[in-house]
Amino acid sequence: MGHIGIFDSGYGGLTILEGIRHRMPDYDYIYLGDNARAPYGTRSFDVVYEFTLQAVKKLFEMGCPLVILGCNTASAKALRSIQQNYLPQHAPDHRVLGVIRPTAEVVGTLSHTHHIGVLATEGTIKSQSYNLEIEKLHPDCTIVGQACPMWVPLVENNEFDKPGADYFVRDSLQKLLSQDPLIDTIILGCTHYPLLLPKIEQQLAQLSTVNCQLSTIKLVPQGQYIAASLDDYLYRHPEMAQRLTRAGTCQYFTTESPTKFRESANLFLHEEVNVQHITLN
Ligand code: DGL
Repeated sequence: MGHIGIFDSGYGGLTILEGIRHRMPDYDYIYLGDNARAPYGTRSFDVVYEFTLQAVKKLFEMGCPLVILGCNTASAKALRSIQQNYLPQHAPDHRVLGVIRPTAEVVGTLSHTHHIGVLATEGTIKSQSYNLEIEKLHPDCTIVGQACPMWVPLVENNEFDKPGADYFVRDSLQKLLSQDPLIDTIILGCTHYPLLLPKIEQQLAQLSTVNCQLSTIKLVPQGQYIAASLDDYLYRHPEMAQRLTRAGTCQYFTTESPTKFRESANLFLHEEVNVQHITLN
């Protein structure tokens, strides 16, 4: 019997955890943030794979038969290799799931114009993972992406709701929208971005005064969709659901300072959490 492991490069995956716990409060969870080595967004494929695999192995050792990569960058750069190369040989009865496919599944049904924009880290955009997944599932969709290198630092440094964030949010939105004026749906393809949602909405509203079409754009944060997808996965895989304990607990681990994690986690979860230090290698 075990817990559901949720991994992220840092704090961002807490937005995914929150969505999952909101929908499935009964299960037990272990959250692992590799804060000491975050951000992953600009790291190479090999490094993201190595770090992510270390975290997955640790969560397996801690008794998680199921791990969710709550990080878009790790999902984009490491998930497929872990699923195809690592699990079959080393942990055939364990499962690792990501956040890109569940988002890709739902987004095709949300867009009317079938023109979709993706805002994400440089690593996620360069990997083209969203384009590949969405085109596979919804071949009639056109996808354009825009990297937002300043958005994660704005959140990590607690500047996401300050006036200084306006410029960077507006700049990335304009760059995305100028690539395809028919976009009616924008995926917030990074776990940190839900915290910027009020700013994104505000900047979109301002841009809409010049182009009223923009006022109908749908913004898609991921938490609720990942939660729905996990719920569905456990329904379709009762053999996995039966291996999971249900006491409604959540333990938090970080590779950085637990005190620092506790303070920042507050921004994401709005509650005090108990955090322990962990080493990955
Ligand atoms: N959690 C990462 C993601 O969703 C963002 C932070 C990072 O770059 O590590 O892509």
